[in-house]
Amino acid sequence: MTIGQNLSTAESFRREALSLLAFVCRRDASWVIAHPEYKLDNKESRLFAKKLSQLKSGWPLAYLLEEKNFYKHSFTVSPAVLIPRPESEMIVEAALEYHQKKHYRQQIFLDLGTGSGALIISIAGHINNQEISKNSCCYFGASDISAAALKVAEINARKQRLKSKISFRRGDLLLPWRRYLQINRHSPLFIAANLPYLTPKEQAQEASIAYEPKLALIGGRDGLELYRRLLEQLASLKMSGPLFLMMEINPRQAPSLIKEAKKYWRPEYIQKKSDLSGRTRFIIINKS
Ligand SMILES: C[S@@+](CC[C@H](N)C(=O)[O-])C[C@H]1O[C@@H](n2cnc3c(N)ncnc32)[C@H](O)[C@@H]1O
Repeated sequence: MTIGQNLSTAESFRREALSLLAFVCRRDASWVIAHPEYKLDNKESRLFAKKLSQLKSGWPLAYLLEEKNFYKHSFTVSPAVLIPRPESEMIVEAALEYHQKKHYRQQIFLDLGTGSGALIISIAGHINNQEISKNSCCYFGASDISAAALKVAEINARKQRLKSKISFRRGDLLLPWRRYLQINRHSPLFIAANLPYLTPKEQAQEASIAYEPKLALIGGRDGLELYRRLLEQLASLKMSGPLFLMMEINPRQAPSLIKEAKKYWRPEYIQKKSDLSGRTRFIIINKS
């Protein structure tokens, strides 16, 4: 490493340590900088020493601060959930665009594998603010196979006063929604799916994700097992209304997932969407 790289690593460690100090003192970073004379009490000192040693051993800062910003809001995170990533904000944007463009009366928004709830809470929060004036109604549902993740999602919904607007259910992919979707088979349906898509080898090789739950990362042998099952479950529901399914993937998986999707949907309904670096990050099924 060059001197410049070493200096920048040291500077970023200093910034993170400062955030930890602010966290244990329950103040913000500017207060910490302005009060070098403040003496930490025993409890604060112990907590800071523990968090600093976790930071040194590679724990992500978001877990140590117990929060992460996503789509303009702060979300509680714990090691039971994936730390929400900025690229997933494109799913929120697509949902809001879908809601604005299509003037359907009753739209259903589902977030499968909700984790911290960042996607559905951001979608519901924005739509809910607009809906108050329009008086049209939407249904918001979020599910996860992990009970611990659902608890975190519910904490976040409560924090943003959206708990009563979102249904939370535990279960495999679309199974918790089967009955609801059968009853509402003609309603426009938007599905957000950022499901685990890494192979076990990819997960093991990537040090930066070592502290995140394997259940949130590994998608079977080729990473596509959950998406394959989701497409099968969705096709078997025989929904007759408009459908928008947005699946986040690793760019290299695009050709295989498109091939899978073609088993159930005509090619004109299948789209690719790139992230800001121009790599195919989403596969979309869009049927009006
Ligand atoms: C990649 S994380 C995404 C979390 C969140 N949606 C986000 O974008 O930050 C995948 C989530 O899917 C959940 N999951 C794994 N297998 C599942 C299954 N069979 N059915 C439902 N959820 C599942 C995991 O527990 C995890 O919370």
